[in-house]
Amino acid sequence: MATYLAVPPTEGTFPRDESAEFPRARGDAITGDRYCSKEFAEREWQKMWTRVWHVGARESQLEEAGDFVVHNFLHESVVMIRQKDGGVRAFYNVCRHRGNRLVMSEEGGVDQHLTCPYHGWKWNIDGALDWVQDPEDFPQGNPCGKLRMKEVPCETWGGFVFYSFDPNAVPLMEYLDPIPKLLANRDLKNWKRVVWLTVRVNTNWKFASDNFNESYHLPAVHPQFEPMIDDHYSTTIFEMYPSGHNRMIEKLQPSSRYQNMNEMKPLWADVLKEWDVDPAAYEGRAQEARIALQQARRKLGPERGWNHFAGFSDEELTDQFHHTCFPNFTITGTPEGLHVFRTEPDLDDPNWSTFDYWYLSPEIEGQAEVPTLYGMRPWVEAQHETALFGLAEAKIAQGDFLSQDLAVAVSQQLGLRSKGHDDAYLAEQETRIRRFHEVINDYLEDRR
Ligand code: FES
Ligand SMILES: [Fe+2]
Repeated sequence: MATYLAVPPTEGTFPRDESAEFPRARGDAITGDRYCSKEFAEREWQKMWTRVWHVGARESQLEEAGDFVVHNFLHESVVMIRQKDGGVRAFYNVCRHRGNRLVMSEEGGVDQHLTCPYHGWKWNIDGALDWVQDPEDFPQGNPCGKLRMKEVPCETWGGFVFYSFDPNAVPLMEYLDPIPKLLANRDLKNWKRVVWLTVRVNTNWKFASDNFNESYHLPAVHPQFEPMIDDHYSTTIFEMYPSGHNRMIEKLQPSSRYQNMNEMKPLWADVLKEWDVDPAAYEGRAQEARIALQQARRKLGPERGWNHFAGFSDEELTDQFHHTCFPNFTITGTPEGLHVFRTEPDLDDPNWSTFDYWYLSPEIEGQAEVPTLYGMRPWVEAQHETALFGLAEAKIAQGDFLSQDLAVAVSQQLGLRSKGHDDAYLAEQETRIRRFHEVINDYLEDRR
């Protein structure tokens, strides 16, 4: 039977938070309408999306004062702008003259003003209105000095720029707690986004939080990982935090699900060889090689330019740290980098969503290129690529896990719409999924 932990694990030196609990859930049903009804999607907008913090950009997109990034979310649009004092402010992307959308491009830079294309009003990057045509012709008074762009809360963490539609939003660090603490060993602000891919997928936005909240799907969907990712619940750490965020930690070692978990298999052997660990020495005790790999990376990391290893705990040198940050921001820390998923609802149809995959990599000294899901990429900020699901195929030895996940997301959406579906029948290790839906319900029913 399961060895679920009643309290947060005390073994190991990786960052942890005392608010962590073993997954518990009330038992709210995960019904199909949540994924396909327009009425439900509208309630999500009214009660939840208008309250939470949204990830809008990377700070690296805003190098100089006047640089801006536009983020469209459903029918809304927000423009985030670097200020002269180095801060970032965010505004509704709308001109207060007669409501024209101010900026139509995805990103760019201005010296001092955003100029509305309709009647030419000039909005200062700090939100003030500096110039209008015929200022003397306003009987109610010159709007300059009176009007400002409508501002929304905007804060940064780890190089990510967040905004909220809620003027009374709690401070970002309070909202994210304890995620920043758990990722404290990674200097995310200085890691570069070397892959920036946006895919339109015919599935509801919630698929990602659901899917990345469990590792139960690994054997069926990603069988290729069996020799190197331990997906079994008996060795996985599942945590939930009062803030609604979750964490799951999987060990890098052959899966404990199988009798032959201590046989050395090719994929695992390759990982070990790369770090001068002799696979033959671990034949018959393949799982023990995880510790050997930690030691090898600790020792060889600096001379190979993997300087970020110096700040990592032993576990972080091997294991996968999956964080689901409520509601739609999933961050997985691996020894090599950070996989970021952001899913957002579609403007017209809850059966569609936008899936963003960002891969952040630390600098590896002496290497101009870093390994990614899409092959070796230069260690520079990536250009934005967009695709319809099915057109972006990764080519890595471990197989394209992202396309595998998206493929089941599409087929699951078809089933969730059926009258044949009324609730999920979850394993204990999937509890975080029900809990995710319960946090949504807490927003929709005014308990948060
Ligand atoms: S709507 Fe922007 S200047 Fe008129
Ligand atoms: Fe997956």
